[in-house]
Order: sequence, then C-alpha cells, then structure tokens
Amino acid sequence: MKTILITGGAGFIGSHVVRRFVKKYPDYRIINLDKLTYAGNLANLKDIENEPNYEFVKADIVDAGQMNELFQKYDIDGVIHLAAESHVDRSISNPMEFIFTNIVGTVNLLNAARISWKEKMEHKRFYHISTDEVYGSLGETGIFTETTGYDPRSPYSASKASSDHLVRAYFHTYKLPIVISNCSNNYGSFQFPEKLIPLSINNIKNNKPIPIYGKGENIRDWLFVQDHAAAIDLIFHEGKQGETYNIGGNNEWTNISLIQELCKIMDRKLNRPGGTSAQLITFVKDRAGHDLRYAIDSSKLQDELGWKPSLQFEEGLEKTVDWYLANEEWMNNITSGDYQKYYESQYGKR
Ligand code: NAD
Ligand code: DAU
Repeated sequence: MKTILITGGAGFIGSHVVRRFVKKYPDYRIINLDKLTYAGNLANLKDIENEPNYEFVKADIVDAGQMNELFQKYDIDGVIHLAAESHVDRSISNPMEFIFTNIVGTVNLLNAARISWKEKMEHKRFYHISTDEVYGSLGETGIFTETTGYDPRSPYSASKASSDHLVRAYFHTYKLPIVISNCSNNYGSFQFPEKLIPLSINNIKNNKPIPIYGKGENIRDWLFVQDHAAAIDLIFHEGKQGETYNIGGNNEWTNISLIQELCKIMDRKLNRPGGTSAQLITFVKDRAGHDLRYAIDSSKLQDELGWKPSLQFEEGLEKTVDWYLANEEWMNNITSGDYQKYYESQYGKR
C-alpha cells in the first residue's frame, strides 16, 4: 500500500484531486493535510470522508516541526503539494501570507521530504502544483511553453515562482525526485466565490452587480477542474523526474465575453428574459498590475503522456452553473461568514 500526502486537499482543486485518488486507488492511503484557512472546506469532501483509505490531518505547512513530525509518523511515498494562498487580489492587499505559505511552507515540505527520504529516494515523488502566472503576461500573440522565462508580476505569482525555483533547486542540489506542473485558470464545482466565475454566478443569482475589472479585455485560458485533476494523476504516475509540464485548456476568453456567455446560461437556468443578467455587468477599478493575457501550450503533456481536455468550455460552464444552483447551501454557508467583510473591502458596500 502506498501512502500519498496531498496538501491543500480541502480547497478547490485539492478536493477534486483527493476525491479522484481516494476513489480510483483503493490501495493508496490518502492523507489530506490542510490548515483549513478561509479557502479550505471539509464540506467539499463529504462524499468520501468515511472511505477507509482516506485520512484528514489539520496542519499548517508553515510549521516546520509539524511537517517533520508528519513525515516521521507516516511512511510517505509521494507528495502532491497544492496547499497555497491562491487569490491574486488578496496577495495585493496582504502579501505576507503568500510569502509564508507559498514559499516558506513549500520549503518546509521539501526539507521534511528530504530528511525523511534521505536513504531511499528511489521510488519517491514530490509533485509541486504551480500556475501559468509565473510566466508573466502575454501581449496579443504568443503562448507560454515550459521554457518561457519566469516574469511574475503579482505577489501571488512571485511567491509561486519562488516556490517553483526552490523545488527545482532541491532536485539539482539534493536529487529530490520532483516534478512540477503549471496550469491555467481552473473552473468548476467547489471553487471559492472570490474567483471570477463562482463570484459572478452567486451575484447574478442574487441580482447583485457583476464586478468586471477595467474594460474586461483581459484574457484567461480556462480548464475544467476535473481535467486538471486527471492531468495531475497522469503526471504524478508517469511524469519524468525533474521535468515541468504545462497544463491548459487551449480555451482563451476575454473576461467580458466569458461573463456575457455566463449571463446567457444564467438567464436560461433561472427562467429570466434574455438580457436580464447582462444588465448586472458593472465595470469597476482595474486590478493593480493586471496581467493582460495568459495562454498555455500543453503539447508536451499531450504528446508525451497522452493527456487532453475532455470538455468543451460551453458544456463545462453549463455543468458548473448547474452545480452551483443545485448546491445553494454550500454557497450560503461560505458567504455567510467572513466573506461579507472580504467582499466589502474588495468591492465596497453594494
Ligand atoms: P484554494 O485557495 O481553493 O485552496 C487552497 C487550500 O490550501 C485550502 O484548502 C487552504 O486551507 C489550504 N492552505 C492554505 N494555506 C495553508 C497552509 N499554510 N497550510 C496548509 N494548508 C493551507 O486553491 P486552489 O485554487 O484549489 O489552488 C490549489 C493549487 O493550485 C495552488 O497551489 C494554486 O497556486 C494552484 N493553481 C490554481 C489554479 C486555479 O485556477 N485555481 C490554477 C493553476 C494552479
Ligand atoms: O492562471 C492560473 C491562476 O488563475 C491561478 O494560479 C490562481 O490561483 C487563480 O486564482 C486564477 O487567477 P486569476 O487572477 O486569473 O483568477 P480570478 O478568478 O481572480 O480572475 C480571472 C480574471 O477575471 C482576471 O483577469 C481578473 C478578472 N476579475 C476577477 C474578479 C475576482 C474581474 O474582472 N472581476 C472580479 O471580481
């Protein structure tokens, strides 16, 4: 039996990865390590919480002692490291949390793995989950490949870039068996409603303004979260030691056209006359240092490991809307607490 440590498993992407591994690999013991910050939610894992091969550990990756103890307690074969502060806007108002968790926390895990695996690295794997934002911002043309130079522009992306460099340094210096992937924007169920898509779905449902930064001309490359989880599964098992793989949907949308598409779906689902939801679109002050465009070339992953996205965006977006509308209680529980304070500090009182 293999023991796999998944960090950040109570978050958006982490919960999809945990669910996939718990269900698909009954022979693996899956340990979900999460601090349960505002973004961590055990309700995301209700359906698998009693499975015999699943265990939850509440811990903070910034605490080096806790990480060493964990590696002493369990004989860990592999790490899939997703725990992070993940929201760009929060990194602009409070960068230090990002430095602690994303940089110091990652190094604590690397050290714990290095010490514990010292004599037996051969069948081990440390998989670091990163983002396309480390590559910076594209103009109207171009695409990020695995060899694009790093050029992070927000405290969030700079902290992720820093952690990527450290993970690679541990490969070269200590021969730690690492692999890294850099993925584009994810969407789907269980995403915290601070991110564009779930925030907009929730606001449309409640007839609140949809805040669009600047003119809505920024472009993101969207990937269904379960396709990311499938890529993570593949890279964890078949990715080459020391390598980096880009993951993306080949699916670029300006924010404004994405929101217009979402408004059409919402009108249909809520039985509102066409055009009702789009009236909620409100242009607000732009994000500081707002990256213009991301686009990911995932041909290495497709050609070498045979991955490809399974869903068309329109289909994935509709599925996503259906999920949020069917899971009102999940959304209400999240938006009833500190979320209001965050919302007012980010968008003002509305
Ligand atoms: P999320 O914010 O939804 O979840 C992060 C999880 O990490 C939460 O459960 C939180 O409680 C936990 N966590 C935070 N600080 C911690 C700490 N100090 N110790 C232990 N646990 C802690 O994030 P997400 O969107 O699911 O992103 C997961 C990972 O994927 C991140 O590393 C992010 O950089 C990366 N990523 C995200 C996207 C995206 O579109 N969301 C795209 C590419 C890469
Ligand atoms: O590219 C991968 C990254 O995607 C991940 O590494 C991050 O963890 C994840 O949060 C995401 O970052 P973005 O900043 O691209 O995602 P967000 O949903 O915050 O914003 C998407 C776009 O929408 C971006 O151009 C900013 C814009 N936006 C966002 C919000 C929250 C708005 O116009 N209005 C908003 O209220």
